[in-house]
Parts: sequence; C-alpha cells; structure tokens
Amino acid sequence: MKKLLAALLAGGLMIIPAAHAQDKEGEAASPSPQAAAPAPSESEVTSNVAGDEAAAEEGEHETPHYPLKRPAELAWTFAGPFGHWDLQQLQRGYKVYKEVCAACHSMELVAFRNLEALGYSEDQVKAIAGDYTVTDGPNGDGDMFERPAIPSDHFPSPFANPEAAAAANNGAAPPDLSLIAKARAVERGFPRFVFDTVTQYQEAGPDYIHALLTGYGQNPPPGTVIQPGTHFNPYFIGGPALAMPPPLSADAVTYDDGTPGTVDQYARDVSSFLMWAAEPHLVERKATGFVVMLYLLIFAALVYLVKKRVWANTPH
Ligand code: HEC
Repeated sequence: MKKLLAALLAGGLMIIPAAHAQDKEGEAASPSPQAAAPAPSESEVTSNVAGDEAAAEEGEHETPHYPLKRPAELAWTFAGPFGHWDLQQLQRGYKVYKEVCAACHSMELVAFRNLEALGYSEDQVKAIAGDYTVTDGPNGDGDMFERPAIPSDHFPSPFANPEAAAAANNGAAPPDLSLIAKARAVERGFPRFVFDTVTQYQEAGPDYIHALLTGYGQNPPPGTVIQPGTHFNPYFIGGPALAMPPPLSADAVTYDDGTPGTVDQYARDVSSFLMWAAEPHLVERKATGFVVMLYLLIFAALVYLVKKRVWANTPH
C-alpha cells in the first residue's frame, strides 16, 4: 500500500512539471503579434482596445491588467465585525448623490422611504420625495400621467431609457448605482485574499468608488491611447479611461454640518452612502453574525462535554 502511494506521488511530481513545460512550448510557438493582441473577452471589447494598442506599442506580450492602480484601503466606520453607520456621513453622502450623481445615475432599487434609516423623519422623507416627479398610470382613460413622488416610490432615472442615457454620455450609459458598491471590487490577488477571510475585509466596493472619484487628473503612462470622449483614470476597472467626466470638484456641494467640501470628503461620503444603499442591513448582519458565532462556540463546548459524559462508562 505504502509503495503504491509513493509511486503515485512520484508520478504526480513527474507529470506536473511536464505539463507546465508543454504550456510554455505552446506559448513560445504562437506567433508574437497574436500574443501582443489577444482576443479581448466579450465584456471588455470596447474598453480594452486602447490598452491593447498601448501594450502592442510598448512591445509587451501580455494583456494590460486593469485597474492600473489598486484602490487604497480606507478606514470606514462600517468596517469590521463591530462596524456602525455614521448617519451624519450618510446624509452628507446622500446630498452629494442628489446634487451631483443623480444628474446621470439612477438608483432604482432604493425607495424614498428607505431614507428614514439615515435619520430623516417621515415628514422630511415626504418632502424629499415631493421634489421628484414620477410617471404613473394608466389612468381611467388609459393614459400615463406624471405626479409628485411619494415615499413608497423609488428614485427615478434621469433618462427615459438606457439608449437615451447612452446617447447623452458618449455612448456609455451610466450604470444604476443601487448595488454598485457590491458590484465592483478590484481583484486582491494572493496572498491578500487569504488574509481577507481572517480580517473580514468587505470594503472593496467603497474603496473602489472613492479611488475612482478621486483618481482623475493623473498623467497616463506613455503609449496609453485614450479614446475621444473618455477620461483617463488609473483606478477604472474596465480600461485606461471611462466615459464619466470627473464628477466632483471642491465646494460643489455645501454641507449643512460645516464639514469642509473637498473632493476627498465628497468621495468618502458618497461611497459610504452607496454602501448603505447596496446593503442597508450590513450592520445588523454583522451584529447577528457575531452572536451566532458566540452561540456556536458555546454549543460546541456543550456538545463536547455531553459526548464525554455519554461515553464515560464505556471501556476503550
Ligand atoms: C455627467 C454624467 C455623470 C455624472 C454627474 C456622474 N457619473 Fe458616474 N458614470 C457616468 C458614465 C457615463 C459612466 C459609465 C462610464 C463607462 O463605462 O465608461 C459612469 C460610471 C460610474 C461608475 C461605474 C464605474 C465602473 O467601474 O464601471 C460609478 C461607480 C460612478 N459612475 C459613480 C458616480 C458617482 C458616485 C457620481 C457622483 C459623485 C457620478 N458617478 C456622477 C456618468 C456620470
């Protein structure tokens, strides 16, 4: 038996390097222009074109890796097992969303009444909803009609349909922001993703949004081709540049609580707000999770004691 095992192991050790070598041969055999411009995957077709050209120009025989820079890890109040929402910050973030981002981005999964969780009273929510107009109907005559929104309505899209949104933004429709904080995360790579399971790092979304919003205005590396109508941003996950112009500028939004209006502050606040929009029950989830882990630990100890007791009189 032992011999068989040893033979199998040795066989494995022989086969793995051999397979590796074959891979290498395959790479070397393929003509170099193909290696310089590999077929882009479906979703990256448009955004990767410029990057591939850049790589070809530089003579790099690999697909450029996006984003060009990794987002910094920021300190969020909602991070970690005992995280909490900073309601003041969420209200500021909502203000940034309302006054800046909502011009282009919808948030169709969030209802006005959800804003009560940010500390707004029922009347304040009614007033916020009343500022929006939504299409309702059909009425008795079969016609759609417009009316002021009520708290149970959802944030409407600023555009009539995705085609209109794309046409107004150089062909790229601004994505709905309801879930964006959970939909975007930059690959962490080994060994970081292993440590993340221990440190419970779950803030890749807000880190990314903050980095993206503050990452404009840098110089592209030589050879990068920026398509007309797009803006270089080394933190963009889909290519070297994106169709969103830099949305934030200093003092664009006036905070009621006297917090200074810097681009960094706006980006932090709106990223927190978008995290809340994507996962409003994050804090409850973590609090419940902690109690569940505690319960399981105590339960495990009890089960062990019971096992000892049950088998106490059985001779080994
Ligand atoms: C002038 C219109 C406009 C404004 C204002 C705007 N955006 Fe955008 N945004 C866009 C467009 C267009 C895209 C799609 C870009 C692309 O795919 O090339 C986009 C994409 C995004 C993305 C997704 C990037 C990705 O990884 O795919 C995020 C996140 C985002 N915007 C956040 C915001 C936030 C937060 C604000 C407010 C501070 C904001 N945007 C304001 C037009 C806008």
